[in-house]
Amino acid sequence: MEKTTHTPPIVVSGIRSTGHLHLGNYLGALRNFVEMQEHYQCYFFIADLHSLTTHPTPDHLQESVRDILAEYLAVGLSPEKCALYVQSDVVETIELYLYLNMNAYLGELERCTSFKDKVRKNPNNVNAGLLTYPTLMAADILIHRADIVPVGKDQEQHLEMARTFGERFNRMYKTELFPAPQAYQSDKPLVKIPGLDGSGKMGKSEGNAIYLFDTPEEIRKKVMKAVSDIGPSEPNQPKSEPVQNLFTLMSHVSTPDTLAHFEGLYNQCEIRYGDMKKQLAEDMVNFLAPLREKIDYYRHNEQLLCEAAQLGAAKAQQSARATLSRVRESIGIKSL
Ligand code: ADP
Ligand code: TRP
Repeated sequence: MEKTTHTPPIVVSGIRSTGHLHLGNYLGALRNFVEMQEHYQCYFFIADLHSLTTHPTPDHLQESVRDILAEYLAVGLSPEKCALYVQSDVVETIELYLYLNMNAYLGELERCTSFKDKVRKNPNNVNAGLLTYPTLMAADILIHRADIVPVGKDQEQHLEMARTFGERFNRMYKTELFPAPQAYQSDKPLVKIPGLDGSGKMGKSEGNAIYLFDTPEEIRKKVMKAVSDIGPSEPNQPKSEPVQNLFTLMSHVSTPDTLAHFEGLYNQCEIRYGDMKKQLAEDMVNFLAPLREKIDYYRHNEQLLCEAAQLGAAKAQQSARATLSRVRESIGIKSL
């Protein structure tokens, strides 16, 4: 990792408030956040402003923010250990977004892969917010002068743009205000949680996800319907992708003994996928039960949600105000 400028390093990451969190989000991202809050100065937020590009209704927006906040708290993010906040509570971000937009060029924004994807998928909703999504994300990161940004592969280009905008600002105003934010390099291998539909990864938009808030019945139904194959025809046969996916999921939620048991059956051509799925479903239900219980608890405790959001907002605003006053000074914005 490149040199960072803060000790401990400053970490920023956000998740858009669209839909519930799933097992892939938890094992691939949130579990790392929970660990990071112990060692770094962390800012984790719910990106409600980013979700406006797709025009949610006011009710839906409010519900989603509460759901994700409850889920963040349930997985173990602590309002005391990190700054856990809602993006729109830190209006300083929006001012920085405006300044960054003055030096973000149409060409580079149009070349962004996620923008091109969205234009292709929704040609009737190509709004300016969508075009400048990377400048808003850069503002989220730069407003806390972040050193490290834990994000998935699909966000690497956005992170690269945040670095570009920060460096451009530094150069233009002859300052070293913004460090170059780096992706998080964990010493553990990156996990990729597969879906239940035989190929690829678990994802919100893939329709193949187990949500942290799914009921035991929903989990059982989804797992029992998971794609498998006709079974091995010779001992120690390599596994097909759908079957490997079942084993991968099992490796995350079942005991090593259970996993070894089904590996053994597979290698001896004695496996019955129905039995394996039943076991996987039960282990998944048990794995998720405590999380579901905690989500339910926070979701029904408006007071706790408000307190957490207010504490997070206060911490994030303090950091954001300090950066913004230096930004204004660099630019020459000053009240008379
Ligand atoms: P989705 O793909 O469901 O829309 P996001 O893109 O919002 O999820 O991802 C939020 C975070 O969760 C990212 O850091 C991403 O890398 C992580 N993540 C999402 N799906 C998976 C998965 N199947 N396996 C591992 N990590 C994942
Ligand atoms: N764009 C990210 C996503 O879609 C969410 C996000 C918004 C974010 N601002 C951020 C992530 C700042 C990290 C840092 O997943």
